[in-house]
Amino acid sequence: MRRGGAVLVAAAALGCADGEERQPERRPTWDDLALTPALDLDPAPSSVLIGLEARPTAKRYPGTRGATEVWSYDGTVPGPLIEAKVGDAVTVRVTNSLPEPTTVHWHGMRLPNAMDGVPHIQGPIEPGQSFEYAFTPKDAGLFWFHPHLRSDVQVEKGLYGALVVRGADEPTSDHEAILVLDDVRVNADGSLPEYLDDQQLMLGRHGNTLLINGQHRPELALRRGSLERWRLVNAANGRFFNLRLAGHSLRIIGTDGGLLPKPRDVDQLLIAPGERYDVMFIASGEAGESLTLWNDPYERGHGSGDDEPMVLATVRLKSAAALEGRELPIAFPQIEALPAGGGDLPVELDEAFQGGDLVFTINGKTWPDVPPLMIAKGGVKTLVVSNVSDMDHPFHLHGFFFQVQGHPLAWKDTVIARAQSTMSLVARYDEPGHWMYHCHVLEHAEHGMMGEIHVE
Ligand code: C2O
Ligand code: CU
Repeated sequence: MRRGGAVLVAAAALGCADGEERQPERRPTWDDLALTPALDLDPAPSSVLIGLEARPTAKRYPGTRGATEVWSYDGTVPGPLIEAKVGDAVTVRVTNSLPEPTTVHWHGMRLPNAMDGVPHIQGPIEPGQSFEYAFTPKDAGLFWFHPHLRSDVQVEKGLYGALVVRGADEPTSDHEAILVLDDVRVNADGSLPEYLDDQQLMLGRHGNTLLINGQHRPELALRRGSLERWRLVNAANGRFFNLRLAGHSLRIIGTDGGLLPKPRDVDQLLIAPGERYDVMFIASGEAGESLTLWNDPYERGHGSGDDEPMVLATVRLKSAAALEGRELPIAFPQIEALPAGGGDLPVELDEAFQGGDLVFTINGKTWPDVPPLMIAKGGVKTLVVSNVSDMDHPFHLHGFFFQVQGHPLAWKDTVIARAQSTMSLVARYDEPGHWMYHCHVLEHAEHGMMGEIHVE
C-alpha cells in the first residue's frame, strides 16, 4: 500500500500512546490523506458499480511498537471513497470476509428500505457471503457508510468510508478535501484494548489518537489566498469534534443533506458522531506561517469537557505568491420549509440502570422493546425529542432528512439533542418501510437507544 511507508516513519518517531509525545520526523501530508477512490467497474457514465470487501487488515498507528489488526473495507481505513452523481444507478457488492456477520448502512441516503443496511430488514451478511446494495442518490452531499450490526465494535475497528454525491451546482473552490474524523484507542504495542469498560459505555469510546482520513496530526500545506472547501464527517464512536482553525472563521455552506440557503460563519465547528459539515474559508496569513487546527474541549455531560485542547492538524501556508480575489459564497438556492406541527410524536431519551447495568432508553424502553412510531406514508410529522438525561445524544434518523424547528433552514439526518432540552424535528415520511432512529454514540445505540418508525 502506497501510504504504508509514511505511516511507519511517523510511527517510529511518536510516543503518544504512552502519554509522552514527540513530533514525528515526517508528518502525514495531503498525499497521505488522499482517500483511495473506489474503482467503478461499470463504464456507463450514469452507473456506478463498486465491489467492497470487509476484511481484517494490519495497520500501523503512530506511537505504537507494532501493527494493529483493524477491520477495513478493501484494506484501507477509511474505506475507499465512493463518488456518484445525483440520479446515477449505484450498485455496491459487499463481500464479508470478517469472522462475524455484518451489514452496510448508507448513512444519510434516501433509499429503499431494503437497501438501508439494517440487519433485521435485509438479514445479516454472514462470513463468506455477499450482498448487493442498489440505490439511486436523490441528493447531493457527503454521506458515509458503516456496519449496522455490533456497530460499536465494527466501526471502532475501522469499518467506515465516505460517499460523495455531486450535484449540478456545486460551488467552485481552489481545493476540496473530504475529511473523515475519527479517534482510535490503541495500546503502545499496537493492540486494541479490551472492549468495553463503564467509562467507555457512559460517553462512548474515546480514543487516544485523533485521526483524519486514518492519519495522525498531518501537516497540510495550503496556498495563501486559496478558496478551500472542506467536507467533514465524524465517524468516531463517541467523540464530539470541536474544531477551530487559528485565525480563521469557517463558513458553513452545507450540512448533512446538502447546501444551505444562507451560509453562516462560525469560529468553532462542533461535529457530533454521524454529522457532516461542508465548510469553506480563504487561507490567510504570512508566507511560511503554521496555523493549528485545534480540537477544543466540549462539555457534553458527565465531565467530558475537562480535556485539554488537542492538536488535530497543522496548516502550513506556502511561501508561493498568494492567490487573489477569492470570495466565499453568500447564498445557495432556497429549500422548502416543511410546515410545523401535525401529530407530534414524543421521543424521550434517558439513561437508566436496569438490573445493575447502565442502559440508554427511548420512551422508557431499550431496543428492541421500544414501541415503534406509526406514520402514514406521505405524512409530514414532528418528532418531539426530549433529552431528559444529563448528557448530549446525537440523534440520527434513517431514510429521511428533517428540519429542526426554530433553527435556520437546513436538511439534517443527525443532530445534537442537548442534555435536558427538547427539540422538534419535522420530516416528510414519503418512503414506506421500517426506519431506525437512534443515538449515534454507538455504545448508546447498542445498549438500548434505538427505535423504529413504521411508515406505511
Ligand atoms: Cu450512521 Cu443507524 O447509523
Ligand atoms: Cu447517546
